[in-house]
Amino acid sequence: MARILAVGNATLDIINVVDTYPHEDQELRARAQHIVRGGNACNTLVALSQLGHDGAWAGTLADEPDAQPILADLERHRINTGAVHMSPEGKVPTSYVILSQASGSRTIVHHRDLAEYSHHDFSRIDLGELDWIHFEGRNLDEVERMLERVKRERPTLPVSVEVEKPRPGIERLFHFADLLLFSRDYARAHGYRDASTFLAAVGGQAPNATLSCTWGDAGAWLRTAEGVELHAPAFPPPMTVDTLGAGDVFNAGIIDALVRGEELERALIEASRLAGKKCGVYGLNELVV
Ligand code: FRU
Repeated sequence: MARILAVGNATLDIINVVDTYPHEDQELRARAQHIVRGGNACNTLVALSQLGHDGAWAGTLADEPDAQPILADLERHRINTGAVHMSPEGKVPTSYVILSQASGSRTIVHHRDLAEYSHHDFSRIDLGELDWIHFEGRNLDEVERMLERVKRERPTLPVSVEVEKPRPGIERLFHFADLLLFSRDYARAHGYRDASTFLAAVGGQAPNATLSCTWGDAGAWLRTAEGVELHAPAFPPPMTVDTLGAGDVFNAGIIDALVRGEELERALIEASRLAGKKCGVYGLNELVV
């Protein structure tokens, strides 16, 4: 069991389950509605907790009623919230999700009106006991300072950075990471049409890191710092019902395997299998049964 800190978001996800994705200006009735905790960093921690690890979350919540179900869910998964910053202003970030049963696609409209986690809050966290630290690639100025602190105080602590959205300047975080977890959206936004070409090109920006990139049905790729490429196929479930958070679960699968000292090839297969399993179940509570 490893001690893992994740820095990033928690959200309230209002998920409307529909038969098929609607067209613009359509009125339709949802089959079901689920209101659950989301957010990439917290989703990854919830998956890691089910894989047996001890997680802690560093992020911001607004001091308002919607924070309660989020804290309750994190508590249910034994995730430490001692480093959370409770903001007296703003609103818990909220995602309005359309989950299509025809395809399993998840369309997200996200609303955010909350200050990001600061380096000042992060500076109070004791890094001494950690086995791994994971960052969402966002809030770049502050996260860069947090990464500088990690490198100063715990130079050998493994660091992963998730690179999901193409935020201007995000590349300056790359050299801090041992593991960079890229999304297909990021690769596409930079003009790439496959993960292999993308990883070969981006490798130059992070010469010491292991890189991963997921590509939906085509599977997932890893590239080592030495330039060795690995590929795992997708592991689609008998029926895809819910892809929300599948990327976050993939990230947890890689971190879990690497923190246990598994080979990269095993890590890639285990992460792909776990993400596939996630797509066959609703939510994130039944990943390991
Ligand atoms: C899934 C997710 C949701 C959240 C959204 C935030 O990856 O974390 O739980 O609403 O993305 O971007």
